[in-house]
Formats: sequence, C-alpha cells, structure tokens
Amino acid sequence: MTKSNNTIIIGIETSCDDTSAAVIENGIIRSNIIASQKVHEEYGGVVPELASRAHQKNIVPVVDQAIKKAGIKKEQINAIAYTRGPGLLGSLLVGASFTKGLSLALNIPMLEVNHLQGHVLAHFIKKNEHDTSQPAFPHLCLLISGGNSQIIKVKSHLEMEVIGQTIDDAAGEAFDKCAKVMGLPYPGGPLIDKLAQTGNPNAIKFNKPRISNLNYSFSGLKTSFLYHLRDMLKIDSQYIEKNKEDLSASLQKTIIDILFGKLVRASKETGIKVITVAGGVSANSGLRAELKKEAEKRQWNLFIPELSYTTDNAAMIAITGFYKFLEKQTSGHNSVPFARMMIE
Ligand code: KG4
Repeated sequence: MTKSNNTIIIGIETSCDDTSAAVIENGIIRSNIIASQKVHEEYGGVVPELASRAHQKNIVPVVDQAIKKAGIKKEQINAIAYTRGPGLLGSLLVGASFTKGLSLALNIPMLEVNHLQGHVLAHFIKKNEHDTSQPAFPHLCLLISGGNSQIIKVKSHLEMEVIGQTIDDAAGEAFDKCAKVMGLPYPGGPLIDKLAQTGNPNAIKFNKPRISNLNYSFSGLKTSFLYHLRDMLKIDSQYIEKNKEDLSASLQKTIIDILFGKLVRASKETGIKVITVAGGVSANSGLRAELKKEAEKRQWNLFIPELSYTTDNAAMIAITGFYKFLEKQTSGHNSVPFARMMIE
C-alpha cells in the first residue's frame, strides 16, 4: 500500500505505569488508547518490575487497538514516535524495543520524544480539521506533575526554555507525600482534590517558601504539614479523620498559591500573556478553577488541557513526533531510552 499525502504518526508511551498508543494524522487525533495498570494499587506506589512486565503484556493489543480505532492500515503510517525518557528504565525499554521492531518491520523511521516536551505539546493535538484553538508562540507553560514543576518558555513546537523549576520536590509529590501522612492511598493528588471540595481552604496556614528567582520548592510545605499533624495528633488522636477536608483544602490552596506566585511573576517578567498548563497536577479541579479566575483578572489567554491529556498518554507523544517528523528529526535504530532527561 502506498502512503497518502497525509502524515500519519503513531505514538508509543510506556514511561511509567500506563501503556498507551495513539495515531495522529496531520496533527489531528485519530485514536488514543491507554491501558492503566491496576497491579500497583496494593503496593502504594508504582513497582518498576511489575510495570515493565505489564507493558510487555499490554503493548501489542494497545497498538493494535490504536491502529484499528484510527481506521488506518499499518502500512499507511509514516513514522513511529516513542517516549525516550524520562521515566522508569525497564518501562521505557519495552516501548523502545517495540518501536524498533515496528520500525524495521514497516521500514519507517523512528522519532525520539522527550515525555516532558510531549506534555507541553499536548495543547497542539487537534480534535478535528476545524480545530484552530492552539496557543500562539511564545507562551509560558506551567508543567506540573509527579516528577516536575517547571515554568517553560515555549518559543516554537521544538524550542523550549525552562525559566523556573523546583529545587526539591515536585507539586505532585507534595500532594502525594502529604496524602500519605494522612493515611490516604497512592496517588494522593486526586483524593486531596476530592476532599478539598468540601473543606475550608483558609482553615490552616502552612509555610510557603521564600525563593528569590522563578524556582519552586515544596519540601518545606511537606515538613510544615507533617509538623502540624504531629502537634495536633498529640491533642486529639482523631484529628486527621475529623479534619481531612479542611487539611486537604488548605494544603491544596497553599500549593496553588505557590504555583501561581511564580507563574504571575514569570508572565510579568517576560511580558507573555499566553499561558498553558500541563501534567498530572493540571487535572486538579481547584487549580483549574483558580487559573480561570487569574486569567480573567490578568487578561491571560489561557489553555487548560482536556482531562485525558493531563495524565500520561501517547497522543502527546505522537503530536511531538509529528512536529519532529516535519523537521526531519528522525532517529536511527541505535536509539536508547534514558531514565533522566531534561527539556533542553
Ligand atoms: O504527569 P503525571 O501523570 O505523571 C508523573 O509525573 O509521573 O502526574 C502524576 C501526578 C501525581 O503526583 C498525582 O497525584 C497528580 O499528578 N495528580 C493530581 C490530580 N490528578 C493527578 N494532583 C492533584 N489533583 C489532581 N486531581
């Protein structure tokens, strides 16, 4: 079968505990299949060995479904994009090896994608031919996940500069670690979000970091939260149970305040008013509501991702691959994944 004039990219994402494959045609989403791994639930966190095994099991059916749902034949695919890192090495190796096999079998090039860059470019996935709602350049992206809290100046699809980032924990880690000391299961972020909806965000004051540049710090907040619980539990052993809504709402408000403080400053310093948000923590309902208010107040042109694009997904890998393919940035079969990767 000959290739059409359309550019069809398949993306493969296996960086952590979601096996995902997606098809993008000329920048438009055709399919995005995600198999989440339930096996980790009983361990309170992702177990790397189990994640790799589950990817091995899931990858073929997930890719098969993505191709079927897109309504294409595999021979029509122009290139295959895979997550090179950052992530769990064993998990990344499954995606990398599968990609090499498919690339050789179909005689099409491979594209290496930085997972973080993928999160940023999720805003460029078009819903259909008429979708023109993509952010202009340059814009600022607040990338907040379990491993990162960064403010990125996005100059073009493939040119990005980190202008602020956490010096210790990420925002997602702050949610997860504080949730853990409250006795909540992993990942704690979504549970804190739910509890916060009926709590008082001003009930408890936690410490905020004082850092002079655009960088973040969340380790002090974690300690402040821990000490507060320790002190209150001495007075009332049922303190957490009785106050879990207020604790969640106050913690969430503090995290949002910290994130917004630097984002507002970055916008003022750069003069950029096109703002996007990305990464797992961008699913937080309180943060999304506050961002909309802040955008109205500051006349930002704000882009909030669809919930399905906040967590790990292959659509963001495919769209990044699409832009790399247009720039002829393909890779050879000696490509290897990296557990640690930065945006630059
Ligand atoms: O981007 P992501 O899916 O993957 C990694 O960074 O590995 O982000 C996961 C993080 C976790 O820390 C999780 O608790 C957090 O995103 N998260 C949330 C919410 N949903 C996911 N945090 C706060 N509120 C949420 N609704």
